[in-house]
Amino acid sequence: MNQSLSSLAMQLMASPKGLLAADESDKTCSKRFDALKIISTKESRRQWRQLLCMSPNVGLYISGVILFDETIRQKTDSGQSFAEALIKQGILPGIKVDKGLVEMDNFAPQTITEGLDGLSERLQEYYQMGARFTKWRSAFTIGSDLPSPAVVRANLVVMARYASIVQSAKMVPIVEPELIYDGEHSIAESARATELVLKILFEELKALRVDLSGLILKTSMVLAGTETAISKPKEVAGLTLRVLHAAVPREVAGIVFLSGGQTSQQATKNLNAIGVAGSQPWPITYSYSRAVQDPVLKLWRGKNTNTKKAQIKFAQLLAQNSAARGGEFAE
Ligand code: G3H
Repeated sequence: MNQSLSSLAMQLMASPKGLLAADESDKTCSKRFDALKIISTKESRRQWRQLLCMSPNVGLYISGVILFDETIRQKTDSGQSFAEALIKQGILPGIKVDKGLVEMDNFAPQTITEGLDGLSERLQEYYQMGARFTKWRSAFTIGSDLPSPAVVRANLVVMARYASIVQSAKMVPIVEPELIYDGEHSIAESARATELVLKILFEELKALRVDLSGLILKTSMVLAGTETAISKPKEVAGLTLRVLHAAVPREVAGIVFLSGGQTSQQATKNLNAIGVAGSQPWPITYSYSRAVQDPVLKLWRGKNTNTKKAQIKFAQLLAQNSAARGGEFAE
């Protein structure tokens, strides 16, 4: 397989599908397991990722799965690697390659994402394993003076460098500058911060000559903070699209949304409102973790006897979000 970057990106954005984010670190996955009293081990995490990736008909709804390093090295019960098992279902395997957030000197608790060291070598190995796209996430808190411009710039310079290294390794980079949903900010503040971050991101990507037709943006929806009243889907869609039009060049291969701590219902309804607005310069879809996993994990609870009903719920959530990307979700 030696597809061009833009055709790989188009494959990932194919309608009516979305991406599954299953790239939670061991620590994050364990936190979610602990909350439901599921014992978190390498094996229980393997079983959970297998439940998702091998769910019947998952290939109807999902074009790519973002994996964590632990999972891409594991095998399914049938003895094939996760990457092979996904490829057999017509799904592209992807890999999270950043090494997580650390507090940024002089700006704590704001963070900077690490992971450029040794990235080219790690990419070669992941490519051999079958990965064809990657993800890198930075996180920004919204507040009166937040995020600090210096923190934004430092993160996005590194993110652009990541994207250029990934394209040299013949893989599609997903760039994910997440605006954190937690907080007391208004929806207008969220719009302002998102637009600022995205404009700087594309300045830095252009400066490093990143091929935008072989790049996917993963972004937050524009939402009022969790401590503020819940934003209505119409308003979320209107402001999110306004910001995207103001900041994202047309050449970008596609835009995917993270769910960011919204409930499943909220994430689907907001995506649907964006879909209802009709065709945009870029294909737009979902790349959710919590919004499509949380209700499924609650049904599974670490028990094989619950696998079937958990997979039925998973398929239902994927079908709803795939309908929502086209504005066709009906409750
Ligand atoms: O980095 C975050 C994931 O890619 C998306 O997760 O849908 O739970 O926000 P989320």
